[in-house]
Amino acid sequence: MENKVATRITGTGSYLPEHIMTNDDLSKIMDTSDEWIFSRTGIKERHLAKDESTAFMAAKAGEKALHDAGIEAVEVDLIIAGTITSDYVTPSLACEVQEKLGAVNAVAFDVNAACAGFMFAFHTAHVYLQSGIYNTALVLGAESLSKIMDWKDRSTCVLFGDGAGAAVVRVCEEDEEKAGKKGLAGGRGILAFEQGSDGGKGMVLNCCGRKNHNPLVKNPWMPSYVSMDGQQVYKFAVGTVPASIQRVLDKAGLRVDDIKYFVLHQANIRILQSVAKRLKADIGKFPSVLDHCGNMSAASVPVLLDEMNRKGMLEKGDKIVMAGFGGGLTWASAVVEW
Ligand code: COA
Repeated sequence: MENKVATRITGTGSYLPEHIMTNDDLSKIMDTSDEWIFSRTGIKERHLAKDESTAFMAAKAGEKALHDAGIEAVEVDLIIAGTITSDYVTPSLACEVQEKLGAVNAVAFDVNAACAGFMFAFHTAHVYLQSGIYNTALVLGAESLSKIMDWKDRSTCVLFGDGAGAAVVRVCEEDEEKAGKKGLAGGRGILAFEQGSDGGKGMVLNCCGRKNHNPLVKNPWMPSYVSMDGQQVYKFAVGTVPASIQRVLDKAGLRVDDIKYFVLHQANIRILQSVAKRLKADIGKFPSVLDHCGNMSAASVPVLLDEMNRKGMLEKGDKIVMAGFGGGLTWASAVVEW
């Protein structure tokens, strides 16, 4: 799709729960060790929500993103949340956030694409903005994965954490002077996008999620935990992600060397290293929050992006690749000019 207007990220925000669970803390409640977890994943600790709901975290992240973008909640006309752990089946997480922020003029809904959820939401917002239907979107990725883990399954539960990230995405003025006044000055925004799904392999990373209350069903119990074939997911990630990134670079007419940072879903440090190797890119271009956040599913990409933004790592005109991958199976990559 040819861009009709520029759609840019004009603000970012994130929220991490107060409680930190280290690998050593985990080793006190299950048969594991800091050495096993860190050497295989790069994770040292993760934040786990005790009293914070998914909506609370998402609204905090959203509030910070709006502040960073210099806009009021009433100016938002679209809220899309990527999540698999909303507090309710309905209302959606996005509707809860709308209410908490007072974004009374927004249309709000969730997308479920697991760890690619933020990227699918981001792409959906981009397409809405390109179509001219909306001008200002708040895109969220927020998860309370701790509530869907089997805490007796050490091969899975040690990998995940809770958190929320957000980005304000807006249609931008071409005229630099006008844009400056409205806080919209910057690069050309989203240059290219690509995404995909493979439902045929969905069961390698699954979570049934809720009980069946249908009185006609004889055995309504279903496991509500995340269940994962780690090695199959690993194979999927290291094969699909570099190919998706290469396709999106081709679409944008760019090369690996043109990219300042690869802002990838944070599943595992070995996956990041393998993707870097396959792309022949310097691993230094792959920033990470894995050590202190673990895998936060849909929240990983926007939390990482916000940390980079706050550290001043992103300058006008920088080209970055953002990519998510995970349950579904799903994957999505974008090239963005900051
Ligand atoms: N602590 C200590 N030992 C553990 C453990 C833990 N937390 N979890 C598993 N083990 C044990 C296993 O029981 C197994 O023991 P065994 O050899 O006696 O049977 C051993 O460690 C090796 O397990 P294995 O599953 O072969 O390890 P691995 O090298 O494949 O690493 C993952 C496991 C999960 C780290 C790896 O497969 C992975 O990163 N997969 C991708 C998962 C992912 O990122 N998912 C989300 C994508 S969005």
